[in-house]
Amino acid sequence: MNALHTNVPVAVIGAGAMGAGIAQVAASAGHRVFLYDNRPGAAAQAIEGIGRQLARRVDSGKLAASARDACLNALVPVDTLEQLANAGLVIEAIVEHLEVKQNLLRQLEASCREDCILASNTSSISITRLGAGMTRPERLVGMHFFNPAPVMALVEVIKGLASDPAVVDCVLATAAAWGKKPVLARSTPGFIVNRVARPFYAESLRLLQEGVADCASLDALLREAGGFAMGAFELTDLIGHDVNYAVTCSVFDAYYQDMRFQPSQIQKELVDAGHFGRKSGRGFYDYREGAERPQALTLQSSADVPEVVVEGEIGVLQGLLERLSAAGVKVSRRAGRGLLRVGEATLALSDGRLAAQRSVDEGLTNLVLLDLALDYPGCTRLGIAWAVGTEAAAVDQVVALLAHAGIAVTPLRDSPALCVLRTVAMLANEAADALLQGVASAADIDLAMRAGVNYPRGPLAWADQLGHGLLVEVLDNLQTAYGEERYRPSLQLRRQLAEGARFHE
Ligand code: NAI
Repeated sequence: MNALHTNVPVAVIGAGAMGAGIAQVAASAGHRVFLYDNRPGAAAQAIEGIGRQLARRVDSGKLAASARDACLNALVPVDTLEQLANAGLVIEAIVEHLEVKQNLLRQLEASCREDCILASNTSSISITRLGAGMTRPERLVGMHFFNPAPVMALVEVIKGLASDPAVVDCVLATAAAWGKKPVLARSTPGFIVNRVARPFYAESLRLLQEGVADCASLDALLREAGGFAMGAFELTDLIGHDVNYAVTCSVFDAYYQDMRFQPSQIQKELVDAGHFGRKSGRGFYDYREGAERPQALTLQSSADVPEVVVEGEIGVLQGLLERLSAAGVKVSRRAGRGLLRVGEATLALSDGRLAAQRSVDEGLTNLVLLDLALDYPGCTRLGIAWAVGTEAAAVDQVVALLAHAGIAVTPLRDSPALCVLRTVAMLANEAADALLQGVASAADIDLAMRAGVNYPRGPLAWADQLGHGLLVEVLDNLQTAYGEERYRPSLQLRRQLAEGARFHE
């Protein structure tokens, strides 16, 4: 299916943060764009704002003056819906309210051409439900841009129950022609990104609540070991706790209170206090004048760098071993069950059991568990945990070893699956469940998480890399440790494991 031809006018309703950005995207792609807002003067003001923004890009040499002029000339503020009569695509980005949106869509059906495509930028309302009040629900799709729309590449194109596949295809092609990365999703709560991303916030909130580490340490691990652009606390401080908490509550309710999406009391407390994050000056961190930013906890050691004996296959830790060897650490191998002997300590990747539990189960002394890293050869920090009773000298040897290879070590309280491993396992689990339920394809789920929230790797590609066996084991152990269905592995993960199939070939 072809994209909408650039000689077909586009209309955007709602000239707020999203509407203005979307109008700019469509105008930059060569369409004439009508911008309407029911607040008098708002559309013209938004176009002036776009003009100021483009002028800055021209001044810094990032945009040609002719491109700015073409974009601004294409933007037309209008003050009645009747002026949209020849638009071929109308995108609404008005207030997030079901009845108000339904009412607008009915008015648009009356004032636009019969073959006009209507799209909603809603982030949480069902497209099926929006379509239910319409005469031609087959012409409606979701077109979910990310903020800021001119910068963020992802567009989730949402198919409601009644959406015409040809309309969906045209919107996918049009988004691509506008330079975006479109993904297709069924109309389900949270679509792809707002659903699959929930554990990123939820697991850090839970680790904090359970005293596993402080905010700065957990954020540093997600950044420096996990490869995420920001940790969950700094990111939610940026998004705003009022917004992030509301999205969590809406997804939780929409999935009939599935405990996987359970909101957090500590985030609610911030919302109750008005500590919304950066915008209010306080959130998990303090942004007020003169406030000091806390640093991640980093262990120091004066122990000698020990030799390492590798016992058996160590899976993803192989990358760490190569780094240690390159740093001059003496490494030898012998048969065994996937452990590293580091002086007095035994070092292993967490499998979701507590260090205390695993020490008993496997008869190990001085067991130190290692957290996951996106990239062991390149990471700058790793989390470790150990059971009460582990000798301090053994922990010191592990810290000395990792520090010798340039890795800062953050201590975590002995906890199931630690920080990065637990977060990634839950992200992959949610992504697998979305795939199981036919929300989107594996390729689109991973693309959405990379382009929409800048994840360093798609959760399903991450699952392939770690091995589905390890993930199911980690989730099973989490579920046993907590006794909560929140951590139940998705059938899709078990199925892939049983079939020996990868998410991506
Ligand atoms: P906003 O509050 O900045 O802008 C909404 C605009 O719509 C306002 O200018 C308002 O005057 C206008 N408006 C309200 N009711 C109207 C009506 N009946 N007819 C015409 N204009 C009307 O809101 P924002 O953030 O731009 O969000 C708009 C939509 O985009 C919402 O559905 C929101 O859920 C969705 N969205 C928001 C994102 C964000 O990060 N802010 C990201 C993705 C989607």
